Amino acid sequence: MISSIIQLILAFQSFHLLNGRIIDMTYTFNSDTYYWPGSKNFNRTVIFKGSTGKFWYYANEMEFAEHGGTHLDAPSHFYKDKWNVDDIPIERLIAPVYVIDIKSKAEKDSSALLETEDIQAFEKNNNVKIERKSIILMNSGWQERLGNKTLYFGNDKNNASDFHFPGFHPDAAEWLIKERDIVGIGVDTASVDHGPSSDFLTHVAISKGNVYGLENVANMDKIPKMGAKLTVLPMKIGKGSGGPVRILAEWDTQSGGADALNPLFMLSNLITIFLLVLFL
Ligand SMILES: *[C@@H]1O[C@H](CO)[C@@H](O)[C@H](O)[C@H]1NC(C)=O
Ligand SMILES: *[C@@H]1O[C@H](CO)[C@@H](O)[C@H](O)[C@H]1NC(C)=O
Ligand SMILES: *[C@@H]1O[C@H](CO)[C@@H](O)[C@H](O)[C@H]1NC(C)=O
Repeated sequence: MISSIIQLILAFQSFHLLNGRIIDMTYTFNSDTYYWPGSKNFNRTVIFKGSTGKFWYYANEMEFAEHGGTHLDAPSHFYKDKWNVDDIPIERLIAPVYVIDIKSKAEKDSSALLETEDIQAFEKNNNVKIERKSIILMNSGWQERLGNKTLYFGNDKNNASDFHFPGFHPDAAEWLIKERDIVGIGVDTASVDHGPSSDFLTHVAISKGNVYGLENVANMDKIPKMGAKLTVLPMKIGKGSGGPVRILAEWDTQSGGADALNPLFMLSNLITIFLLVLFL
């Protein structure tokens, strides 16, 4: 009896208290993957799939532009002689992450900008100062629009002169680099510059500051707005201006994050304490 109660308590703890969470923030690459107009779409060709008589064998070849799907923009993308994707120091690829929600702005204006004031409001409302060497993500709610190019880009004609989607204001990017010494920014849209941009000043600002950009980042709603850590692993393309990236968010439910304030999480803590007091 006692031992099964203890087991129950341990199960409760390992499930709700001790385990962290890990979320994949990457879209799968396939023929539906979005690319910027004029660039080569993801194209996978089966080279062999079947039995050779001796063993099963399966292999593909593929071609794709560097900048499409969930991908990283290296600083060399918009500034001469800055880091290529394979030059970015690995210490900058694992970093604390903050997610700034601009959904209400983006609902009213499909070309909304994340501005310096939004970052300052985030710090004030959460009583936090963004740590050095962090990654800042913009959550505009754009993932919901995936699957419909008109909703995601502003038109389905691959016409970049008529794009509408949210992005970072160049001043906000500069502020983050100068005042918070960040390592990267990321968006749930196709570009760190908002859709109507034609001079790509946010791209220029981050490239100049040797900061990378992450585009078409998935699952921003599934991670805490602070307290998580990102692992950002771009394909190590020699002299690449960017490339496909696997992004993992990881956090410890004990050290805060969204779960610390989740009523179910608090209830499970209370039940665990209750069981401990009662039976031990
Ligand atoms: C995809 O790649 C294969 C193999 O190189 C090629 O034959 C085919 O034309 C390509 N398809 C497109 C749409 O580019
Ligand atoms: C995509 O969204 C547009 C704009 O809301 C709508 O007119 C169109 O019917 C949608 N297309 C599909 C395939 O759902
Ligand atoms: C692209 O969109 C712009 C702005 O709406 C328009 O002036 C232009 O004619 C469009 N180009 C094409 C090829 O449709």
